[in-house]
Amino acid sequence: GKDGYRHYMEKELHEHPLVIGQTLQRMIDPATRKVVLPDMPFDLATVPRAVITACGSAFYAGMVGRYWLEEIARLPVDIDVASEMRYRNPPLTAGSLGLLISQSGETADTLAALRSLREKAIHILSVLNVEHSTMARESDVMLGTVAGPEISVASTKAFTAQLTVLACLTIATARARGKLDPLGEEELVAALMDLPSRAAEVFNQGDAIRRMASIVAEARDVLYLGRGSMFPVAMEGALKLKEISYIHAEAYAAGEMKHGPISLIDRTVPIVASVPSTPLFDKTLSNLQEAKARGGRLLVFTDTKGAERVSAIAEQMVVLPHVHDFVAPILQTIPVQMLAYEVAVSKGTDVDQPRNLAKSVTVE
Ligand code: F6R
Repeated sequence: GKDGYRHYMEKELHEHPLVIGQTLQRMIDPATRKVVLPDMPFDLATVPRAVITACGSAFYAGMVGRYWLEEIARLPVDIDVASEMRYRNPPLTAGSLGLLISQSGETADTLAALRSLREKAIHILSVLNVEHSTMARESDVMLGTVAGPEISVASTKAFTAQLTVLACLTIATARARGKLDPLGEEELVAALMDLPSRAAEVFNQGDAIRRMASIVAEARDVLYLGRGSMFPVAMEGALKLKEISYIHAEAYAAGEMKHGPISLIDRTVPIVASVPSTPLFDKTLSNLQEAKARGGRLLVFTDTKGAERVSAIAEQMVVLPHVHDFVAPILQTIPVQMLAYEVAVSKGTDVDQPRNLAKSVTVE
């Protein structure tokens, strides 16, 4: 049941801290505090590249994975949504790593992409929540997200669990490729282990998130912005808003806004930005200033370190605990999903069963 929550989605949002913790328990040895992955029939140290493919939210998780794998493990990554990957017939090097991400393990587009990668002698590593799914059976190795059943059609906890697995995979890959020394690994593992408690603190921000929601609920169009690993977080926020509140939303890389969408900005198009204090903080803030100068209303997710500078320009802000840059996209996802939920509730939509959508999309 819903355990007293109004919707499954609300219940599942509150499971973020638990699910991140359970997923970490599966992947980090408590004694050595090192990432331990199952045996793989290929070597992460020598795969020439990775190709990531998935659909919807799982694809956005993959985009964060690309930032991590390229930046930390120095592994070149190619990424596309499954329905495109399959037909664009990219030239792939046999022996590359195919990284497939899916909550259900049954999504037809992702499964078709898996099979076409397999035909090209790509090793298949799947990140799946349903461990006895078709994709699990057809993969060389599976990394499980320990999110438990997700009932709400809109994905929430499965997404942060996917990010948690991808973060651990990045650490293991970086170590195997000689890009991460023991101290570096210790630092990243500590950042991950810190997450469940920090994630629990996000729920103290309910009032601030509802104030933002009351502005978003009045809008016809909303622009979501983020840079670096926060760009896919913006995309996840925009998708969730579209899915359950039926408000049009679009995500843009914050630096790209001035190349077009800035002409949309006025008081009727609120701007939701995810701007924790990472090395991209200053650049993102100046993009927001450009939007504000054109009459944009800024609704900003930041952290305790960024709050003072954000408060100077934002109409509403949500302040999260400050965490290591590496894990910031995981933490920042939670309030962005909560915002979509609160907007949907205030609009009175069928939150758990949005129109035209099914939990598992088994047609191509
Ligand atoms: C987003 C959502 C969809 C799914 C997508 C992939 O809230 O629910 O975009 O993420 O259909 O589904 P899986 O992960 O089952 O392959």
